[in-house]
Amino acid sequence: MILAIYGSPRRRGNTATLLDKAIVGALENGAQVEKIVLRDLSIAPCLEIYGCKTTGRCVIQDDFQRVYDQLLECDGLMLASPMFFYSVSAHTKCLMDRCQSLWVKKYWIEKRSSKKTQLRRKGLFISAGATRGKRLFDGALLTVTYFFDVLDMELSGTLLCRGLDFEGDVLQHPEYLEAAYRAGQELAQAVKDDPGRNEPDG
Ligand SMILES: Cc1cc2nc3c(=O)[nH]c(=O)nc-3n(C[C@H](O)[C@H](O)[C@H](O)COP(=O)(O)O)c2cc1C
Repeated sequence: MILAIYGSPRRRGNTATLLDKAIVGALENGAQVEKIVLRDLSIAPCLEIYGCKTTGRCVIQDDFQRVYDQLLECDGLMLASPMFFYSVSAHTKCLMDRCQSLWVKKYWIEKRSSKKTQLRRKGLFISAGATRGKRLFDGALLTVTYFFDVLDMELSGTLLCRGLDFEGDVLQHPEYLEAAYRAGQELAQAVKDDPGRNEPDG
């Protein structure tokens, strides 16, 4: 199963349109896709109380609990977030910060070495920003790379679209829409080609 996470507060924004195209690409390549719209969920920010340190599970009882299970179960991930102040949206960042519980599980409880981590699963990051700066996505890419790492996931694909601001702007860019469709197809293919993700650490 591929988990598709919509991280924009805009329901029909540019990243939502791109993610929808990527989902169609994945479905047409035989994948099963589950969607999550973060703005419809109640996910509080991390409180940094480390209630997760005994079980690796966050102790705040909200919608994150279900997403946590889906994040563990999925074979691949599509994450879509607009650029907000050169990073991901607040909705997306709340989810990421709550995944500190997974970091605790991995490095404190299971005492796994960061050097030996095998990035078995694949993840696609989709983003859009209004400006065209060369470094527009640098901050978010660092954040997403380390978020995926906690999930034992490789950032295997990116779709980073500049010059998109108002809702619907992306519809003027068939090249972005086609790239999103292809990125979805490729992620589905990568998931099909890599059946070994559930093997225990060697
Ligand atoms: C709070 C906020 C912060 C933003 N920060 C940036 C930014 O740092 N760089 C940029 O190029 N665009 C920025 N934008 C513009 C959005 O990235 C742009 O409108 C994008 O297309 C929104 O994607 P969406 O329609 O999927 O929500 C910002 C917009 C908002 C609302």
